[in-house]
Amino acid sequence: MAHDAVEVIGAKRDRGELSDSQIDWVVAAYTRGDVADEQMSALAMAILLNGMTRREIGRWTAAMIASGERMDFSSLSRPTADKHSTGGVGDKITLPLAPLVAACGVAVPQLSGRGLGHTGGTLDKLESVPGWRAALSNDEMLAQLESVGAVICAAGDGLAPADKKLYALRDVTGTVPAIPLIASSIMSKKIAEGTGSLVLDVKVGTGAFMRTVEDARELAATMVALGTDAGVRTVALLTDMSTPLGLTAGNAVEVAESVEVLAGGGPADVVELTLALAREMLAGAGRDDVDPADRLADGSAMDAWRAMISAQGGDPAAELPTARESHVVSAPTSGVLTRLDAMAVGLAAWRLGAGRARKEDPVQAGAGVVWHARPGDDVREGQPLFTLLSDDSERFDRALEALDGGYDVGDGTSYTPTDLVIDRIG
Ligand code: URA
Repeated sequence: MAHDAVEVIGAKRDRGELSDSQIDWVVAAYTRGDVADEQMSALAMAILLNGMTRREIGRWTAAMIASGERMDFSSLSRPTADKHSTGGVGDKITLPLAPLVAACGVAVPQLSGRGLGHTGGTLDKLESVPGWRAALSNDEMLAQLESVGAVICAAGDGLAPADKKLYALRDVTGTVPAIPLIASSIMSKKIAEGTGSLVLDVKVGTGAFMRTVEDARELAATMVALGTDAGVRTVALLTDMSTPLGLTAGNAVEVAESVEVLAGGGPADVVELTLALAREMLAGAGRDDVDPADRLADGSAMDAWRAMISAQGGDPAAELPTARESHVVSAPTSGVLTRLDAMAVGLAAWRLGAGRARKEDPVQAGAGVVWHARPGDDVREGQPLFTLLSDDSERFDRALEALDGGYDVGDGTSYTPTDLVIDRIG
């Protein structure tokens, strides 16, 4: 049935429930250019303000899937599992996780994105590996999944084109943080991608889209229901993003930290989250008989990493790029690091050149922040607390402003450790 955009916008503005046919029409008409950007912006804002029912979100997701192609991995000789993180600071988990799960006998088709704003992008990180390329055809992706078991690459233009167009519009109209729009955006791509099972890492805290556990739980439950209804075994972990993950935020620095994890070392929180997500992915794919910790210890996850990087033209043995300039911030006093704010660190890394403000901006491979203590660690006055890295020393002042007030050193009595995994939904 044909509708018109003003009628659909008016229905949502007046807190009505959109019909299946209104949703199908508006998503298809926007994708082919018959609904203008300003009309879709108004509708996105009405959805942000007035919400959607589960039925509307399900239908909106289906309409976005129907706007493009669906991939099919049923010809592979092993089951598939994928992971999606809602985005955080220092979140390099995909890098060790994909080869680790592949080393356990489950194929990982990981379609990733680039960073925008203070959260990093997996493709930007991997592009710091000399020679590595993000663009693969569907046939190349399928062949690599069969031979190596893990692929991390850019989503092709054919997958959920409605989401591509709508996400770019939401980004510039203040309509990103709407649970119905985030859930349908993420799940349309994951369902169209064709994975058999999916683990969602829903971040909560200052460095995440979702600032409260209640909002994160609602987003997680909405996405789990969408996945389950589409026949994808889906679970979600709610994980802490008030503190950045590991000891690095940036591109090459995060690759180096991931390689440490694959070599059996690395920061304890990165190892913990990698293993927790790997266990969920293996359970979803019916392979919970394998312990991923064994595959980290015996070197087979590292072998899968090398194979995955080489298959996409990268040299896993090459030296990673380093920034031309560095600046050290020392601990102001002796005591315990009681707080390290994820948003402050993310913003600093971004201002140093690790992230981009506009889609077309380049990123610096060597830029980022390294912190030398985690909350709960003792620090001594004058000891290096942060190392800022950038190719341009004039970026340091703005990065220092971002870090200012983003950490506390105290006597430790006010410090209580928090759980990394807050809840599991599914
Ligand atoms: N990531 C997505 O893919 N879509 C959103 O809407 C938010 C985060």
